[in-house]
Amino acid sequence: VKEYKIAVIAGDGIGPEVIDEGINVLNEVAKVDGDIAFDFTHFPWGCEYYAETGKMMDDDGMEKLKEFDAIYLGAVGFPGVPDHISLWDLLLKIRKGFDQYINIRPITLLNGAPCPLEGVKREEIDMLFIRENSEGEYAGAGDWLFKGKPEEVVLQTGVFSRKGTERVIRYAFEEARKMNKSLTSISKGNALNYSMVFWDQIFDEVSKEYPDVQTYSYLVDAASMLMIKDPKRFEVVVTSNLFGDILTDLGAAIAGGLGLAAGANINPERDYPSMFEPIHGSAPDIAGEGIANPLASIWSASQMFDYFHRPDLGARVLKAIEDVLTEKEYVTPDLGGNASTSEVGARVIHYLKG
Ligand code: NAD
Ligand code: IPM
Ligand code: MN
Repeated sequence: VKEYKIAVIAGDGIGPEVIDEGINVLNEVAKVDGDIAFDFTHFPWGCEYYAETGKMMDDDGMEKLKEFDAIYLGAVGFPGVPDHISLWDLLLKIRKGFDQYINIRPITLLNGAPCPLEGVKREEIDMLFIRENSEGEYAGAGDWLFKGKPEEVVLQTGVFSRKGTERVIRYAFEEARKMNKSLTSISKGNALNYSMVFWDQIFDEVSKEYPDVQTYSYLVDAASMLMIKDPKRFEVVVTSNLFGDILTDLGAAIAGGLGLAAGANINPERDYPSMFEPIHGSAPDIAGEGIANPLASIWSASQMFDYFHRPDLGARVLKAIEDVLTEKEYVTPDLGGNASTSEVGARVIHYLKG
């Protein structure tokens, strides 16, 4: 039996509610399979921890996390702590500190999931977003000059290194090649006359190494429109950190909503643990009510199986999610049902048992 050590950071708001269901699913799959097992260690970090200690995580938090095979995270950020503090001291600190430079976000309309677009066939929404996850507009670089003065000015610098840009684009080409799909780059070289011109240039360069992969390139504004009007154009997509953030919430909206959108923050070299988390946040508006949709975090758990070289188990979890969606009896209010978070989790497990 291969045992994996998982660090759990359930975090804030609905984070703990949805993560509990994900853990139940991971344990159930492990039980049914018999060859894989999980050892979970919970870290109480987040905004409540900050209120008690003045810190989002322990000073040696990164050292502690380093020992784990993966991190399973719920959500970070809650009213009361400024978002730029809570996120930079926990979530973004981990993504950056562990060089999780690939953010894999599948935007796939699962069987049974509702879609607000008319006339779109289910199989036409099947995208794999690969978001740059370590630099760009999230470099944390900038300045705040002449604070409070009339000439006050702030700078938020996008940082695009050759290494950082090349590696994510190359990763996306590899994925597209493996999947025998096209690769679309989304950028903005017309207005962003340094960063996105550079991005486009590197995309062209790397594309020469992959003559077998069909490529497309769109400006981000047009791409936002096309994702709604003609989503089938997009298969594997590679884009910058900020554009990827925005476009995957948009993608979530056409693929069942944020309650169904999953992501994996990957350090491909496996020098550091990778982190699995739903795309959504702490949802303060519904936190504590027990009605958050746990399927996004369960889908993230399924990505963990892929990462642990057990795509068969990942597929089994995804199938169980589709079974629940198709049945429609046990879905949360965001999907038009009236089931609770734990009822949905229990139903996924019901289908995993077969
Ligand atoms: P949000 O994703 O938390 O919520 C947006 C809307 O989607 C809300 O109406 C919410 O109720 C709904 N929603 C989200 N997840 C849902 C689920 N699983 N089931 C049902 N409905 C769901 O975004 P926000 O309100 O902009 O942000 C709230 C806080 O979360 C902020 O502090 C923000 O910075 C943080 N945040 C954290 C992460 C993360 O930890 N990865 C991601 C996004 C936002
Ligand atoms: C996400 C979130 C984060 C991001 C925030 C909370 C910093 O929106 O994971 O999509 O922008 O990456
Ligand atoms: Mn986001």
